[in-house]
Amino acid sequence: GEQVVILGIESSCDDTSAAVIVDGVEMSNVVAGQKVHEAYGGVVPELASRAHQKHIIPVVDQALNQAGVELSQLSAIGYTRGPGLMGSLLVGGSFTNGLSLALKKPVIEVNHMRAHILAHFIQNLEKSRQTPEFPFLCLTVSGGHTQIVLVKDYFEMEVLGETKDDAAGEAFDKVAKLMGLPYPGGPVIDQLAKEGDPDKFRFPVADMPDFEFSFSGLKTNVLYKLQKGSQSDPDFVAKNKAHIAAGVQKAIIKALLQKLERAAKKHGIKDIALAGGVSANSELRESLTELGKKNNWNTFIPPFAYCTDNAAMIGITAYYSFLEKNYDGQYRPPKARMKM
Ligand code: KG4
Ligand code: ZN
Repeated sequence: GEQVVILGIESSCDDTSAAVIVDGVEMSNVVAGQKVHEAYGGVVPELASRAHQKHIIPVVDQALNQAGVELSQLSAIGYTRGPGLMGSLLVGGSFTNGLSLALKKPVIEVNHMRAHILAHFIQNLEKSRQTPEFPFLCLTVSGGHTQIVLVKDYFEMEVLGETKDDAAGEAFDKVAKLMGLPYPGGPVIDQLAKEGDPDKFRFPVADMPDFEFSFSGLKTNVLYKLQKGSQSDPDFVAKNKAHIAAGVQKAIIKALLQKLERAAKKHGIKDIALAGGVSANSELRESLTELGKKNNWNTFIPPFAYCTDNAAMIGITAYYSFLEKNYDGQYRPPKARMKM
């Protein structure tokens, strides 16, 4: 039959991204990050939407050019409807709406959290990727979410448990901020931890029922330790940065993997996937690989380009909606909070 050509657009937080997916294969995936937030120690929503406005046309243009695809060839345009920052979502959404009206092409709304998971199905031109088999479990860990999801089919997902307060990425970022490290803190802590002793300081993580998580106590614990240490030694933080980073990272990973292992056992599942920005964490990747070997899992760890926010994951999700005729082609305004 005809080729299915999808333009994917992502603008939920602080990355503007566009991708072209042809028959499930990534032809381009362009991401423009936003440096403006670094000075503020976190994403400033108003600045994010302005930066999206500046980036969206060049990013889409580049994605189409790299793919060698003309607008007239598109089968549909997929966009992130939510969850995310309202002002940011509006830029990608309104752009998609305008483009679809001009081209008379259908629009497919995409849930950002589902897209992080379905990123495991993006195929690449160079070599085909192994994909998880349904039903599988996915640990999705990002700046805004921490959840264990039972993925029964492309569009049948059940959240087994999630965080009751801070997300894992948020915990990394907040601890980094307390230590005076730049934003986003996750990658910085990842690097620092490589030179630290994870057992020099211990950071307990709240024991939550079932498959729930709680990370908000961690930052308070870190704050107290920093304050106490600095009282007797003003250079305490500078001297112990790497050890604190390693200790915090160990605590977060332990909490995540304990629950994941429990969920895998309870549901008798051997295909286990990781998704979201925090899946870029090198220690998490190694620990999950180890745990997978121990349990005889088929472990799926995304390449770095599919960990953090990108439009290829939006494109592949829209592609499966298109295949399954699971869309009506209409544009719907964004939703900052959107259920799985
Ligand atoms: O998925 P993502 O790009 O955006 C959201 O949807 O939230 O995730 C961003 C989060 C940030 O909290 C960032 O600190 C974290 O992912 N992150 C990391 C690493 N790289 C990104 N956390 C720990 N280690 C990393 N290497
Ligand atoms: Zn994300």
